[in-house]
Amino acid sequence: MVDPRLGIIDKRLENIKTLIPVSGGKGGIGKSLIASTLALTLSELGYKVGLLDLDFSGPSTHIILGIGGVYPKEEKGIIPPEIYGIKFLSIIYYAGDKPSPLRGVDISNAMIELLAITRWGSLDFLIIDVPPGIGDITLDIIRLMKRARFLIVTTQSKVVLETVKKALAMLKELMVPIIGVVENMKMTTSSLVKEQIEPFNVPFLGEINFDKHLEDSLGNVSKLLKTDFAQDVKKIVLGAPGFRLKQGL
Ligand SMILES: Nc1ncnc2c1ncn2[C@@H]1O[C@H](COP(=O)(O)OP(=O)(O)OP(=O)(O)O)[C@@H](O)[C@H]1O
Ligand SMILES: [Mg+2]
Repeated sequence: MVDPRLGIIDKRLENIKTLIPVSGGKGGIGKSLIASTLALTLSELGYKVGLLDLDFSGPSTHIILGIGGVYPKEEKGIIPPEIYGIKFLSIIYYAGDKPSPLRGVDISNAMIELLAITRWGSLDFLIIDVPPGIGDITLDIIRLMKRARFLIVTTQSKVVLETVKKALAMLKELMVPIIGVVENMKMTTSSLVKEQIEPFNVPFLGEINFDKHLEDSLGNVSKLLKTDFAQDVKKIVLGAPGFRLKQGL
């Protein structure tokens, strides 16, 4: 039997111009920081932006943005609260601070439910923070959000790169659109990442330097936007055609 929620999801997402899951093979490489800062940057540039945290076991965008005390409204579904100009929704609202013991099909079900009841309205961009690895959530995003264009984060570490290459190969095989690859935590002038991703024929969008002051800015959006990290993210946004929806930007 076809799950009736799947058709509803398409309707819920139909007025969102661009869906961008921020993914990458490994954990701890800056996906959540980049997803959050990307959402803020696009909003600053005048776009209508949503941020969806789908990291069931380690939601962190609310910590990065210092979001507390605001909750979604229930009105013929869920309406995400608007904060710092962004419509924000995290699995944390439903799992609370409790460790979320969901697994396998339960995760899939919770995600389908969330997508089926959320009313985003019209958006230019929905940025999605994805858990590490190519697991259930990523596969469900591919299945349920056919228009999603993945932003892949890597570092120059060989262990990270090997996993990212696997992820790229899988996305390519499934013919999933990829907006490009970003190299994070750059500390040298090495061109290893560029060389390694070349065979995949995906755009290299740019580099984000390691910023030792970044940790101090977590939880404080105005401080975060003043970091070198945020400047690097902005440079990538301004340089990549995939982020240009309006004329003149
Ligand atoms: N360019 C950078 N310079 C310095 N620190 C960084 C940089 N990018 C990310 N970090 C730090 O790395 C840590 C991990 O970042 P983040 O939580 O965004 O990674 P993640 O890939 O989302 O992790 P997970 O896979 O666990 O969700 C954070 O403490 C963050 O402040
Ligand atoms: Mg994360």
